[in-house]
Amino acid sequence: MPITSSVIRSLLFHKYCPVSLASPAPLISCGWSTAPAADEPRTLENRVRLVTKVAQTVAGAVGPERTGIRFSPNGPIQGVDDSNPHETFGLAAEMMARVGLAFIEMREPGPDGTFGKATVPPVAPVIKERFGGPVILNCDYDGARAQAAVESGEADAIAFGRPYIANPDLPERIAKGVPFAKDDIKTWYSQGPEGYVDYPTAEKQAA
Ligand SMILES: Cc1cc2nc3c(=O)[nH]c(=O)nc-3n(C[C@H](O)[C@H](O)[C@H](O)COP(=O)(O)O)c2cc1C
Repeated sequence: MPITSSVIRSLLFHKYCPVSLASPAPLISCGWSTAPAADEPRTLENRVRLVTKVAQTVAGAVGPERTGIRFSPNGPIQGVDDSNPHETFGLAAEMMARVGLAFIEMREPGPDGTFGKATVPPVAPVIKERFGGPVILNCDYDGARAQAAVESGEADAIAFGRPYIANPDLPERIAKGVPFAKDDIKTWYSQGPEGYVDYPTAEKQAA
């Protein structure tokens, strides 16, 4: 099933997108809007209005069952440094349920995260409860931890970021218990294929 999470993600949470480049912080930051109208009260409902409108619009265009969204509610690194993330994102999750989105994918690094650290207690339990649908968790997982999180019901699925860059055969490695190759930070933002199509599979590496 083709999923369009990247559409909303790049609109709202991609700090490199043209919209958010206009401000020093991601578009959806502490106040969910960098420029509230003077007569607009700073209510929780208003803070989730923009994200809800975008979700409704995308879901209206391609179908809610083909639309997901990423939330990153737990700190300033590639996320949102919200003053009240549990309440704000809890309501946002509820609104996403009303729109009927297929899933929420959540970046939730731990306090020892290797790519940003959470500055607040975990938000995923609140999201899970208030969304009620599939919640995909992300950050610092390997195969064993991913399996444990799904089996315990903590997550419905796990998303991988950096491991997929360096391991084109990631599912096979997880299935066979083959250690992950390490990604090279120097080529994360290469302007061409370098660092994205040249990591070998475990099979090729062994040959
Ligand atoms: C090169 C690179 C680009 C990324 N770009 C984005 C992005 O545009 N938006 C976003 O929400 N997260 C982005 N991330 C974060 C990943 O989606 C993911 O949350 C992060 O890598 C942690 O997961 P991991 O431990 O599985 O790598 C990026 C990560 C990397 C390495």
